[in-house]
Amino acid sequence: MPYIRETILTTISEAGDVHIAPLGIIQEGDGWVIAPFRPSTTLANIEANGLAVVNYTDDAKIFAGCLTGRKTWPLAPIGGCPVPRLEAALAHDVLKVERVTEDDTRPRHFCKVVSSGQHRPFTGMNRAKAAVLEAAILVSRLKMLPAEKIESEIAYLKIAIDKTAGPDEETAFYWLLEKVIEHLAEVERAG
Ligand SMILES: Cc1cc2nc3c(=O)[nH]c(=O)nc-3n(C[C@H](O)[C@H](O)[C@H](O)COP(=O)(O)O)c2cc1C
Repeated sequence: MPYIRETILTTISEAGDVHIAPLGIIQEGDGWVIAPFRPSTTLANIEANGLAVVNYTDDAKIFAGCLTGRKTWPLAPIGGCPVPRLEAALAHDVLKVERVTEDDTRPRHFCKVVSSGQHRPFTGMNRAKAAVLEAAILVSRLKMLPAEKIESEIAYLKIAIDKTAGPDEETAFYWLLEKVIEHLAEVERAG
């Protein structure tokens, strides 16, 4: 399996509107593959201008927020690049698309890093941040998973939250939990 970095991508539309979305970037040779499913705003934006900024952040609220309708986060300009970065980024890479493997469901955009920046220190690993990341991925796949699997994963991830979260990780997990509860209630009503 290839190495994947879980990141927040910033992209811009032709009109200049900024879009923020969590995305895993996939290591390939001396570059990175961005593979958004169709349809998505991220895909439309990189098709329009061939640019994406990869934000390396450990801010659990941004991952959880993007999955729960909280898509506006402070931005900062990058010199010489029309796409801004997240203000909260510890570091960023500007990626430029070099070639595309077309696909009806998930085209792969192979990119090279054209510039980078460092902004804040990394302050260490944390189980609750990792649990929020896993819960965010779970929430992005709710429709594909059986209810029992969702319930058991959330129960497991909550252990790390209870033991190691700060207020931000607790809030982020709660946002995701609300989505999960909503989804499970819908499944029960339908079923
Ligand atoms: C950690 C993480 C990684 C993700 N990676 C991908 C990915 O590689 N491709 C994808 O299509 N969606 C991925 N998603 C889901 C997208 O963030 C979500 O579908 C998003 O809304 C993209 O659509 P948009 O560009 O229209 O906002 C990921 C979600 C999370 C939480």
